[in-house]
Amino acid sequence: MGTVTPRPQPGNPKPRLFRLAEHQAIINRMGFNNDGVEALCERLAHVRYRGILGVNIGKNFDTPIEQAVDDYLLCLDKTYPVASYIAINISSPNTKNLRQLQGVSELDALLGALKSRQTALADQYGNYVPIVLKIAPDLDTGQINNIADALRRHRIDAVIATNTTLGREGVEKSPLAAEAGGLSGSPLFEKSTAVIRSLAQALAGELPIIAAGGITSGKRARAKLEAGATLVQIYSGLIYSGPQLVAECVEATNM
Ligand SMILES: Cc1cc2nc3c(=O)[nH]c(=O)nc-3n(C[C@H](O)[C@H](O)[C@H](O)COP(=O)(O)O)c2cc1C
Repeated sequence: MGTVTPRPQPGNPKPRLFRLAEHQAIINRMGFNNDGVEALCERLAHVRYRGILGVNIGKNFDTPIEQAVDDYLLCLDKTYPVASYIAINISSPNTKNLRQLQGVSELDALLGALKSRQTALADQYGNYVPIVLKIAPDLDTGQINNIADALRRHRIDAVIATNTTLGREGVEKSPLAAEAGGLSGSPLFEKSTAVIRSLAQALAGELPIIAAGGITSGKRARAKLEAGATLVQIYSGLIYSGPQLVAECVEATNM
């Protein structure tokens, strides 16, 4: 679910989602269109689904980046009782300055605040809900190592690699390549898998990696596990291939 923000917001003006069908890719600049965290929790209270339900949280577009921590803490408080795990989104390219939170000092402050609130909430509810950090694919090895250090230091439960990319490698010739937003789907595969490889090395198995990015076949799901992930997520691939892709991934990763 998500990304959800403290207050409702409309997201970016339409059109804001573009299918590059010949590349099995998508460019989106949705901008966290959502009804706000209260509405999400109200809806989830009536859901009978009993599977794993991850809630992805973010900040409102008009919250100054210096106050971003407050938005995440508020969303953590509200979603804690309804989520199986909570994903911290600091990697969407469609909210101005959001990716700055991946910087060393910003990340240290954010993860420190979230960890101590998680500890208090676990005590309050008698239930430990894991916190997962979702990162961008547009990071160099130094940045990935810094993020890995912060994840270990703050005992974050897992990491999702990756969100969409600002790069346009592989779709340069598409008339839609110049649209602003994050690119997902098939052309993202190599870039996000390379992030998993670096992360796996830096984390040395200390916390699990959840792979996302360009999984369009069972073979690619398997390649994510071989790169060091323990779980996979599918978004764009599901749009182009439909739910049978899930069965194909299960089959291919049954190692
Ligand atoms: C239309 C669309 C909306 C998305 N919205 C979000 C979002 O709100 N929060 C988030 O963390 N990632 C969001 N993503 C990113 C996906 O969750 C995923 O990380 C990314 O698309 C890479 O995986 P894929 O290649 O399988 O699509 C969105 C992707 C698409 C295509």
